[in-house]
Amino acid sequence: MCGIVGYVGSRDAVVPVLEGLQRLEYRGYDSAGISFKNPEGKLQVVKKEGKLDNLRSVLETQKPKTSIAIGHTRWATHGHVNETNAHPHGNDLFAIVHNGIIENAFELKESLQAEGEKFHSETDTEVFLVLLTKLFKQTGDIKKSIIETFKQIEGNSAVVILNKDENKLYAIKRSAPLVCGRRSGRESGELFLSSDPYALVGYVDRLFFPDDEILCELDPEATFIHFYDLEGNATEQFQKEARSTQETLSTKGEFEHFMLKEIHEQPFLTKQLAGFYSEGVGKELLDRVKGKKFDHINIIGCGTAWHAGLVIKNILESELRVKVTIDLASEFRYRDPVLEKNELALFISQSGETADTIACAELCKKKGLTLYSIVNVKGSTLYRMSDENFLIYAGQEIGVASTKAFTNMVLVGALMAFTLKGEDAIKTLGSELNLLSDKIEALLSRENELKIIAKEIFQEKGFIYTGRNIYFPIALEGALKLKEIAYVHAEGYAAGELKHGPIALIDEQMVNISIVGSELFEKTLSNTEEVKARRGKILVVGVKENSKLKSISDFYFGLDFDGLKYFSPVLVNVVMQILSYYIAKEKGTDIDKPRNLAKSVTVE
Ligand code: AGP
Repeated sequence: MCGIVGYVGSRDAVVPVLEGLQRLEYRGYDSAGISFKNPEGKLQVVKKEGKLDNLRSVLETQKPKTSIAIGHTRWATHGHVNETNAHPHGNDLFAIVHNGIIENAFELKESLQAEGEKFHSETDTEVFLVLLTKLFKQTGDIKKSIIETFKQIEGNSAVVILNKDENKLYAIKRSAPLVCGRRSGRESGELFLSSDPYALVGYVDRLFFPDDEILCELDPEATFIHFYDLEGNATEQFQKEARSTQETLSTKGEFEHFMLKEIHEQPFLTKQLAGFYSEGVGKELLDRVKGKKFDHINIIGCGTAWHAGLVIKNILESELRVKVTIDLASEFRYRDPVLEKNELALFISQSGETADTIACAELCKKKGLTLYSIVNVKGSTLYRMSDENFLIYAGQEIGVASTKAFTNMVLVGALMAFTLKGEDAIKTLGSELNLLSDKIEALLSRENELKIIAKEIFQEKGFIYTGRNIYFPIALEGALKLKEIAYVHAEGYAAGELKHGPIALIDEQMVNISIVGSELFEKTLSNTEEVKARRGKILVVGVKENSKLKSISDFYFGLDFDGLKYFSPVLVNVVMQILSYYIAKEKGTDIDKPRNLAKSVTVE
């Protein structure tokens, strides 16, 4: 989703801003822009629709020299995808970039227009610019005008402001990601900001995460970042984190796509997980929560994280015998849920920045629940809000379609479940983690079989993924993966639910990807028979070397589940990931950055 990068300091500002925007490309965007002060002291805005390279080529011709710049990649929410609506938005006095949504933009715009103010774009962002400029003209005070403008906007936003007469950057946010960074050592100081710390890797040695409604002032003269509350008083309301500059940027290595690389990382990540939780902070965390009792567990997440939650729910319920409910964050936040103090709210998120998930965390915090998160990004908003964080240690996930994060979410969820049960989770699950790792490795060595199946089926009209019980979440996740990257219609269904409606879709151009494990084997088999009887194409992913499965299927991918007590859904899911990847490859789509999608959904 939208990305922000800002820089002020002693080097050519366009370089780190463009580099930062490039690193945020994986998040998804449809236009990009930059604003900087030119040598005459005027604010200049350059923006282009489409890929960052379009912007880059204009800048390469202009070769601007500047020490202060802000840049943005836009994922359209208000207004069409075009150059006018792209950020930054600017005038003679200010240039701004904005992530999030100004919910009362329409009302503010109407009243500003009634006062004679002019607008040029369809965006909500321009409302901030126009209001800020109006207030600044009245008061002549930048900080006050930003704060007053910010007070008037509703909704979750992060805004970065560049003023023509100052060599400083200002930023402020509410429930939207924002990070400031400082690089020490250079004479005049170098200050950065972004919506994602990944943009700043290698550039900074200190990160500052401002709280909501805190104005950040990045002043290279002072070589420091000042923080102010909404009364304009200096404050220390931010979290500081030292980050190693050794942290590396992800590369695709030998793989054609990040997604494929991330799929292949899973055996290693699975194996190393037990290590993280056997010592140090991981072990301390497990020791802290061991045996903790909750009356009820509410699991909340979106998309793939929600699917991981479904798998975790099954494990929690069967092991703890406690009531567990699971909600999509976008629904939970508006359905006025009954929440009690001795309940656990368990949030699952790769990015830790998903707007709906964060809104639910705010709600649960207000209601006094304990907040645990299963999260990948340390230091993310969700991470900072939670009472305990179960990091999934999946490393940076660049592919928009989540793969390795799903796997590690489930595994960490299981470690959490057994710990709450009072067991030594590493003892209980350690050997199964190793076994799973070996089985994924063995599965990856059969990648070519799935590639061949993908070639056979990629042109079919639609795909219905089915599974029962522990495999139902995998049917949902398999279908989501295919939709996301191959742009074909796919649905995940509980196999037993087919005859309640979707079976009407079945004909010879429909593929049923049927997950058949040893649990409920006969029942799932008969659901698959029903599809076969209606001429659907059958791909069975299930127990290996089974003659019944062989005879029913057009394509059969047998799996060795021996020894897997809890993690067979994870193994099946890896099959789904590979299959989606190769179907998408046949279709020739943009696998790592699928159309219309953003890696982290920071707006509602
Ligand atoms: C996964 O492939 C998707 N891109 C998407 O559904 C994702 O899982 C969802 O947006 C939640 O993101 P989060 O884990 O960062 O909160």
